[in-house]
Amino acid sequence: GKGNYRHFMEKELHEHPAVIGDTLRQYLDPRTLEVNLPRLPFDPVKVPRLTMTACGSAFLAAQVGRYWIEHLARIPVDADVASELRYRDPPLPEGGAAILVSQSGETADTMAALKLLREKGQSVLAVVNVPESSMARESDATVLTVAGPEIGVASTKAFTAQLSVLACLAIGLGRKRRELSTLDEGRLTKALLEVPHKAAEVLERDAEIHALASEVAKARDVLFLGRGSLFPIAMEGALKLKEISYIHAEGYAAGEMKHGPIALIDSQVPVIAICPSGPLYEKTLSNLQEASARGGRIMAFTDAAGAPSLERFAERVIVLPEIDPFAQPILYAIPVQLLAYHVAVLKGTDVDQPRNLAKSVTVE
Ligand code: F6R
Repeated sequence: GKGNYRHFMEKELHEHPAVIGDTLRQYLDPRTLEVNLPRLPFDPVKVPRLTMTACGSAFLAAQVGRYWIEHLARIPVDADVASELRYRDPPLPEGGAAILVSQSGETADTMAALKLLREKGQSVLAVVNVPESSMARESDATVLTVAGPEIGVASTKAFTAQLSVLACLAIGLGRKRRELSTLDEGRLTKALLEVPHKAAEVLERDAEIHALASEVAKARDVLFLGRGSLFPIAMEGALKLKEISYIHAEGYAAGEMKHGPIALIDSQVPVIAICPSGPLYEKTLSNLQEASARGGRIMAFTDAAGAPSLERFAERVIVLPEIDPFAQPILYAIPVQLLAYHVAVLKGTDVDQPRNLAKSVTVE
């Protein structure tokens, strides 16, 4: 049941810390700070390329995974939504492998992509939440997320569990390929192990996020901006908002804004920035200043180091716990999902059962 929560989605949002912790403990050892890679259906050293595919939020997790794997393991990664990949007829390298991501393990397009990829000689690793699902059965190997059953139609805890698995996978692949030292591995796994308690701190900012939601609930359009591995998190914020509050939202790479979407900016459009300190902070900051100079209302999620510069022009700044940039996508997924939740509740929509959507999309 929902326990003391109003909706399954609210309950599941509050399960983020536990689910991230449970998932991480499957794939890394907190004592040695080493990743225990699951059995892989490909040789991490020899694999020439990885194809990552999924649908919806699971695809956004895959996109974060692509940033991580390319950066840490230096394996070229192609990532595309399953409904495109399956009809795109991409040239696939001999000895190549694919990583599929799915909560249900039943999504029709992802399942069809799985079959196609296997027919084309790719070995398929499935990251799924349901162990007895079709994808778990039909892939060459499976890595489980430990999110437990997810009832709310909008994916929440399954998403951070997917990110947790992909983060471990990226580190493990990086080690096998000798792109990362044991020292790097220790630093990165330590950062991951900080996520559960920092996630709990993020959930404690509920009142602030609720206050932000009352502004966002009045808008007709909302823009989410991020860069690098936080760009897919901006898209996750936009997807979740559209899906449950029916407010039009777009997630954009902050640097791409000046190539079109900046024309949308006026005092009516909230611009939600995912802008913590890190290697791309200054770049994102300057994109936000451009938006602000055009009358845009900037509302930022950042950390203590990122806050002072943002506070000079942003309408609202929500300060979240500091964490290594590597782990930021997992932590920053939480406030954008929580924001969408509060906006939907304020709008009075059916949060757990949004119109026109099904938990598992088993038709093409
Ligand atoms: C968004 C959402 C959907 C699913 C998508 C894939 O909140 O829940 O976009 O992520 O339908 O579903 P799975 O992961 O079951 O393949």
